[in-house]
Amino acid sequence: MSQNNPSSSAAATPGHAAPHDVIIIGSGAAGLTAALALAQHKRVLVLAKGTLTGGSTAWAQGGIAAVLDAGDTFEDHIRDTMVAGAGLNDLAAVQFVIERAPKAIDRLCELGVPFNREAHALHLTREGGHSHRRIVHVDDATGWAVQSALLAAAEAHPNITLLAGRTCIDLITDRHREQFSAAGRAWGVYALNEETGRVERHVARATILATGGAGRVYQFSTAPRGATGDGIAMAWRAGARVSNMEMMQFHPTCLYNLDVKNFLITEAVRGEGGRLINPRTGQRFMRLYDPERLELAPRDVVARAIDAEIKRHGLDYVHLDISHQPADFVRSHFPTIHEKLLGLGIDMTVQPIPVVPAQHYTCGGVVVGLDARTDIPGLWAAGECTESGLHGANRLASNSLLECFVFGEAAAEDILARWDELAEPPVILPWDESRVTDSDEEVVIKQNWTEIRRFMWNYVGIVRTTKRLERAHHRIQLLKREVEDYYGSFRVTTDLIELRNLLQSAELIVKSALQRKESRGLHYTLDYPDLIDPPRDTVLVP
Ligand code: FAD
Ligand code: SIN
Repeated sequence: MSQNNPSSSAAATPGHAAPHDVIIIGSGAAGLTAALALAQHKRVLVLAKGTLTGGSTAWAQGGIAAVLDAGDTFEDHIRDTMVAGAGLNDLAAVQFVIERAPKAIDRLCELGVPFNREAHALHLTREGGHSHRRIVHVDDATGWAVQSALLAAAEAHPNITLLAGRTCIDLITDRHREQFSAAGRAWGVYALNEETGRVERHVARATILATGGAGRVYQFSTAPRGATGDGIAMAWRAGARVSNMEMMQFHPTCLYNLDVKNFLITEAVRGEGGRLINPRTGQRFMRLYDPERLELAPRDVVARAIDAEIKRHGLDYVHLDISHQPADFVRSHFPTIHEKLLGLGIDMTVQPIPVVPAQHYTCGGVVVGLDARTDIPGLWAAGECTESGLHGANRLASNSLLECFVFGEAAAEDILARWDELAEPPVILPWDESRVTDSDEEVVIKQNWTEIRRFMWNYVGIVRTTKRLERAHHRIQLLKREVEDYYGSFRVTTDLIELRNLLQSAELIVKSALQRKESRGLHYTLDYPDLIDPPRDTVLVP
């Protein structure tokens, strides 16, 4: 029996009023947006593993999509989103987010995000799948500017406490009350204090998951190290439905470099004229795959085209070339990328950039409504860990930061509106580690982690078959036994917690992929190449 669990024997601490009203797990765009919206009325605790800037938000390059130009319309942005999403989107969610985008940008301007401007208007760049220029940005490092502004505001707010170095393990639910109840409401989270190695209880009337995606389940990913699907796995274990996990987005242009494994080359490079070239034939190959939209076709189309060229010609990479644009234009639009590449010996103003597709975004996740509520009473969720209906079968570029701002606000609004119905937390059992010991074989974790990421890349990647998915499923079942055994025997560490969640995420992805008997958007399988109408979400129930 697993001993890494809340105790049934250890004494609960006496009841106490929770020091915080709301707990938010995650300090990226979704978590901090919710925190700032709540803090006007409530005391908020934000928990994050590692540092407060360790999520994907800080790495976002291209920008944020919003209808701000007189020639653009909500209808066009909605249509582009639905086309990219291959019709699997929920129209109500798409409208909800896109109509709130201009307000979200206003709020970021008020927080001091220094978006690029042209004369007095915000400069708008363009990305794949967008029929208009509608991406606001801060050069090619939008995410860092947004993360810094949100964090500065949160740090300055007296009602917000930020705790880094807390790896959350599992949600606290009614099962963990001193007075056991099977009702299943969420009351907070057990978290590993990375410095002391102790497991803490954090309880509150309301909990928001804002833990980002599961990209690190793949060998090659643009996502940061901590994108291990923790929130999705925690919510699943606590009883929440998870949807469309097979819809894993691969970004077409990640830098190919043997030392630098996950550096993104923003889609805005193609938006500003970058061309994809086969380095062996010199051909601009998107003409063969999507002659009208070329390099600005939606991501799934471009990533599959690159994958096909690489496989057909036995290449390691293809070239992305923007050297036909004036050097000053390239330097001023892409200063971060230009400098990074120069450090690696590539001058993008005169040379093509070697690129490959890499996992980039988790379109599926915990099912939420427009109020950001999950299936679990007391638990809300926002951002990349969710499936809100916005992205469908493929996310439109620069729609995800937007989703974080809109759903972060929505979660806060719903919690505030329902506050009087939310009970004070009960007495919660402490974490019991009386029967576990320190791990003596950390190598097991490293080995399993590497193995998962490799077979997910090879068997559950851009092009799938049922046989490959079944192979992956089989490997997952074997590893699950091993990891559960390990988890039940040894004291938790961040690596072990992440491995457990990575494996859980892999299982959800593969199970979802096996259920979809068609090729739609990001899920492309040689065994079922056609579409089945009407489009249906893949919904997994715990
Ligand atoms: P994140 O920003 O990933 O934050 C997750 C938070 O949860 C972190 O604080 C993390 O520490 C915490 N956390 C996770 N697990 C735990 C745990 N167990 N315990 C405690 N804390 C935990 N989108 C766009 O719209 N435009 C772009 O230009 C763009 N560019 C991108 C470029 C790159 C390289 C990448 C990787 C993504 C890009 N995206 C872009 C996607 C976008 O950045 C993300 O979808 C978005 O930032 C997710 O925000 P979030 O708040 O949901 O999660
Ligand atoms: C990019 O800059 O290409 C990433 C944009 C996004 O992921 O939305």
